[in-house]
Amino acid sequence: MKLSFQQLKIQRIKADVLAVFVHQDPRLFRQEIADLKRKLGAHIPAADSGDFNGKEGESTVVYLRRKAAAPRLLVVGLGERRKLNLEKYRRAAASAAKRARSLKARTVGLLLPAMGGRAANIITAFAEGAHLSLYRFDKYITKKEDHTQPIEEIIFYVERAGLVRTGLKSVGTAQIVTEATCLARDLANAPGNEVYPESLAEAARHSAERCGYSVTLLDERELKDLGMGGVVAVSQGSERPPRFIILEYGQSSERPVVLVGKGVTFDTGGISIKPSANMAEMRMDMSGAAAVIGTFEAVARLKLPVHIVGLIPAVENMPSGRAIRPGDILRHYNGKTSEVDNTDAEGRLILADALAYAEKYKPSAVIDLATLTGACVVALGHYVTGMMGNDERLMKSLKDAGEATYERVWPLPLFEEYEKLIKSDVADVKNVGGRWAGAITGAWFLKKFIGKYRWAHLDIAGTAILEEHLDYTPKGGSGVGVRLLTEFLKRWK
Ligand code: BES
Ligand code: MN
Ligand code: ZN
Repeated sequence: MKLSFQQLKIQRIKADVLAVFVHQDPRLFRQEIADLKRKLGAHIPAADSGDFNGKEGESTVVYLRRKAAAPRLLVVGLGERRKLNLEKYRRAAASAAKRARSLKARTVGLLLPAMGGRAANIITAFAEGAHLSLYRFDKYITKKEDHTQPIEEIIFYVERAGLVRTGLKSVGTAQIVTEATCLARDLANAPGNEVYPESLAEAARHSAERCGYSVTLLDERELKDLGMGGVVAVSQGSERPPRFIILEYGQSSERPVVLVGKGVTFDTGGISIKPSANMAEMRMDMSGAAAVIGTFEAVARLKLPVHIVGLIPAVENMPSGRAIRPGDILRHYNGKTSEVDNTDAEGRLILADALAYAEKYKPSAVIDLATLTGACVVALGHYVTGMMGNDERLMKSLKDAGEATYERVWPLPLFEEYEKLIKSDVADVKNVGGRWAGAITGAWFLKKFIGKYRWAHLDIAGTAILEEHLDYTPKGGSGVGVRLLTEFLKRWK
C-alpha cells in the first residue's frame, strides 16, 4: 500500500473517503464542525444532534455534494486536546483507515489536524496507525470477499503551506517502518509448513538483498563444529535441519549492537509435549527472529548511522525418536553445560549459544527478543513486554523507546535469590526453575550465558502473539519489536 503526502485545500482533496479529525473540547469542536460546513457544505447531522461530539474512537460519515472533490467525509473524534499524545493519533488514524476500508474505499485522504510544534512525529504516528491497522494475513484465502478489497493508497494532507518537506520525510519513514513491521507479522503468521529454519534463513537472505545488508547462514555441520550444542540438540528431533542466521549492517569499525532473536519456527514442546489446544499459536514462536529481521530491514532502508549484528538460532522443536529427552545434558558454545529437565523450555537452550556467540563481536550492547515464557504472559498480559537485564542505562533507553513507539517494556527483577531455582545437580544449570517466577528463571538461565557486555532480555511472549486485536494490530503476530528497536537504535550512542 502506498502512503503519500501533499499540501492541498480541503475542497480539492480527491479520494473515495476523506477523513478529518476533530477535538472533543466543545468550543473547538463547534468551530471545527462549522469549518467543515463552510468549506465543504457538509451537513453533519450527528454533530448537530449531539450524537457525535468528537469523543476518542467515535466517527460519523456524511455524503458530500457541490463544494467537495471527495464523495464521502469521515469525521473522526480525537478526544480532548490536552490529553492528546502520539498513541492517540495512531489510534485515530487506525479508526479512520478501518472505517474507510469498511466503506470499500480504494483511496483514502487523511487531512491532518493542526499539530503545533511536533508535526514530524505526529505525521509519522498518523501514517503508522493507518497503515498498520489495515494489515491482514490473507494470502491463503483464495476467494476474497468484496469487503476485503484492499485500499491502494493513503494520502496524508495538510492545508497550510510550509510542512511539505517534513511531511514527505515523516510519511516516508513511516512507510519503511510499517512495511518492516508487516514483514515481521507475515513471518510470524505464516504456518509452520511455510516458515521453517531453512525458509526463515532464505527470507532473511531475500530481505538482505532487497535492503542492503549482509547475511551469513550456518548449517547443521557448521553448528556442530562450532560447538553450538543447544541449537543442534533442540533441532535434532525434527526432520527440518537447523540454521544459524547472522545479519550485519553498518560501519564495522564501531562496536555493534547485537540483536538476538528466538527462531523456533514451531514449538510442539518436544517430548515434554504441549497440550493440543492453541498449539497452532506456536508457529509464531519465531517472533523474536521476525522482529530482528524486520529491524534490519527498517534500519537498512532508513540508512541509520549504526552498526548492528543480528543472531538468529532457527530450529523446529519436535518430538521423535531422535529428539532430546528430559535428563539430557548439553554443552553450549561457551563450554557451559545445561541439564534439560523439560524439552519445552527450548528457547533458552538455543539462545544460550547465540548469547555466548555474541561476545566475539565485542558488542556495545546485546538485546535479545524471545517468546520465552508463558509465565510472562501470566504476569503482564498482552500490553507490555517483560524486560530484564544487567544495565540500567540500556534498559532506560529501551523503556524510553518503548514509550515513544507505544511498544512498551516493563522491568522484572533478576535478584540473586532466583538463581538457585535453576541449579542442577548434574550440570552447570538446569533449563527450568519450577512453578514460580518463570519469566525470571528463564532470564536467569540466559544470564548464565552472556559475555562481558551490557545486556537486555525482552520476553515478548505476550506482546508478539495476540489472541485479540488491538487498535492498529490485528490478532496473531503483532510484529512487536521492530518499531521499538528501530527507535532505540535511532537514539543509542
Ligand atoms: N514458546 C514457549 C513460551 C510461550 C508460551 C510463548 C505461550 C507464547 C505463548 C516456550 O518455549 C515454552 O514452552 N516455555 C515454557 C517454559 C517452561 C517449560 C519452563 C512455558 O512457558 O510453559
Ligand atoms: Mn517451548
Ligand atoms: Zn518456545
